[in-house]
Amino acid sequence: EEGLHPTHYPWEHAKWTKTFDHQALRRGFQVYREVCSSCHSISRVPWRAFVGTTHTVDEMKAMAEENEYPGEPDNEGEPTTRPGKISDYMLAPYKNEEAARAANNGALPPDLSLMVKARHGGCDYIFSLLTGYPEEPPPGAHVQSGLNFNPYFPGTGIAMARVLYDGLVEYEDKTPATTSQMAKDVVEFLNWTAEPEMDQRKKMGWKVIIIASTLFAISVWMKRYKWVPMK
Ligand code: HEM
Repeated sequence: EEGLHPTHYPWEHAKWTKTFDHQALRRGFQVYREVCSSCHSISRVPWRAFVGTTHTVDEMKAMAEENEYPGEPDNEGEPTTRPGKISDYMLAPYKNEEAARAANNGALPPDLSLMVKARHGGCDYIFSLLTGYPEEPPPGAHVQSGLNFNPYFPGTGIAMARVLYDGLVEYEDKTPATTSQMAKDVVEFLNWTAEPEMDQRKKMGWKVIIIASTLFAISVWMKRYKWVPMK
């Protein structure tokens, strides 16, 4: 069963003349860390990916160090832990799938690294999902116990409850943290985790267009110039 078709929003970062808004990415990462990361991993993203995009090296070193990673076994062969390094990938909230399901009523919170690319509707879908929980399911809707009604989720019964509420996080840049602002920021952030090379690609696209059209103009001029005596 298809979910309700999400509204199409005019995402600025998706326009081919625009790049990611790095301030929005920084806010979106904050939403991910403070809200989503208790259930969802973004395991394809290393701490160093944020350096120069949303954070400084020192900020990311400090953030990575707050996490415990498995270290080399000690002399007795016992397992040890070490603080995270900037080259480490971000840790998942649960040890394994079993633990993840046990904590979520049997459902598995998927890794969000590539979610924007993996779901039909991409940014529009995730934004609609996060902001689309009605206060009450519509009359007549059948919602299985343990699930939450969300018209955008295929089947309409989703294991994830509404997570975003006005004022849930406090943004450093003082942007008012409304439900829709947080949803927009985290979606833009998740588009970046899925396509970190997007800005580069767009800049390269411009270079290709400029160089190709210059060469084409030169070749047209050359052709005319060379063939003049033959006319
Ligand atoms: C599923 C995003 C926070 C638990 C999902 C899906 C997305 C998503 C995109 C996939 C929906 C689909 O399959 O089409 C987010 C974002 C969050 C967030 C952006 C933060 C703003 C949370 C939190 C929890 C959670 C805090 C746990 C308390 C789950 C579970 C599922 C899920 C269990 C699987 C749902 C099902 O298959 O029925 N989430 N989530 N999520 N999420 Fe979240």
